[in-house]
Amino acid sequence: MTLNKTEKNILVESHDPGIRVIKIARAHALNALNSETLIELKNALMREAENPETRVVILTGDGEKAFIAGADIAEMKDKKPGEAVLFAQLGHEVTKYLELMNKPTIAAVNGYALGGGTEMAIACDFIVASDRAVFGQPEVGLGIIPGFGATLRLAKYVGWPMAKELIFSGRRIKADEAFALGLVNHVYPAAEFFEQTLALARTIASQSTSAISCAKKLMNEFSESVGLNMKLDGEAHAFGMLFGSTDQREGMGAFIDKRKPSFQGLSKGE
Ligand code: CAA
Repeated sequence: MTLNKTEKNILVESHDPGIRVIKIARAHALNALNSETLIELKNALMREAENPETRVVILTGDGEKAFIAGADIAEMKDKKPGEAVLFAQLGHEVTKYLELMNKPTIAAVNGYALGGGTEMAIACDFIVASDRAVFGQPEVGLGIIPGFGATLRLAKYVGWPMAKELIFSGRRIKADEAFALGLVNHVYPAAEFFEQTLALARTIASQSTSAISCAKKLMNEFSESVGLNMKLDGEAHAFGMLFGSTDQREGMGAFIDKRKPSFQGLSKGE
């Protein structure tokens, strides 16, 4: 195994044969994604897409506690609508890479995967989870909506009614429920999580890379992931429009102040 720290917030581990483990490494914020980390992640994925030696990409979080605890609320809190649209579009560039790049991408969810964390996971080809994993889309509790693709992609995994329940309630779900819903392919005990994930990646990496790349492209077309990517801009604009609203200021302000938010509800005409 070799370890590279080429970016400030990203670690890349290499395992034979051709497996790259990309770890988000912002432990102080539970691996929350700020703009800098999103740019670094996009660059790391572009590098692996172009590297002929890379056969499988695993996305995971550094440390024991979190995969990715969402987009960085401290950075988002004071964004204006236009800035929030750009932020969502940056997130979409990363999720499109995970979904459409020429190599298989596995989300290895080792802990909290909330908001943008679940959204990064569902953009990968499939998800494996540690028994400590927790998924959820808590955005409505912050006065906003998911902005990195969940309004479109979550239903691919769990169906529209359950996707609506999860997005409307912000309810967190543990690994066993995520498995029952079809969100994750496997749940492994935390102690053997990485080894089991690596074993699965090695099975994939030992097959024909060109055949897998061809299968991935076709399956993305058949499952309409390609068409879906055209619709993401609508989500980015709706996400941005909520910034500056009373509920967004209250929701994110309450998180930063570590208190419960008090929302106003719809005003006439909304
Ligand atoms: N953004 C910024 N900082 C975050 C963060 C986030 N998403 N999640 C956690 N942190 C920070 C906390 O502020 C805290 O920092 P301080 O030590 O400086 O106070 C540190 O990480 C540790 O977090 P907690 O003390 O809250 O840890 P906990 O164990 O008590 O709770 C948690 C863990 C349940 C994951 C909780 O941190 C949490 O609810 N985080 C926010 C989850 C969230 O709402 N994510 C969605 C973000 S919005 C989004 O992602 C929009 C989108 O679709 C693009």
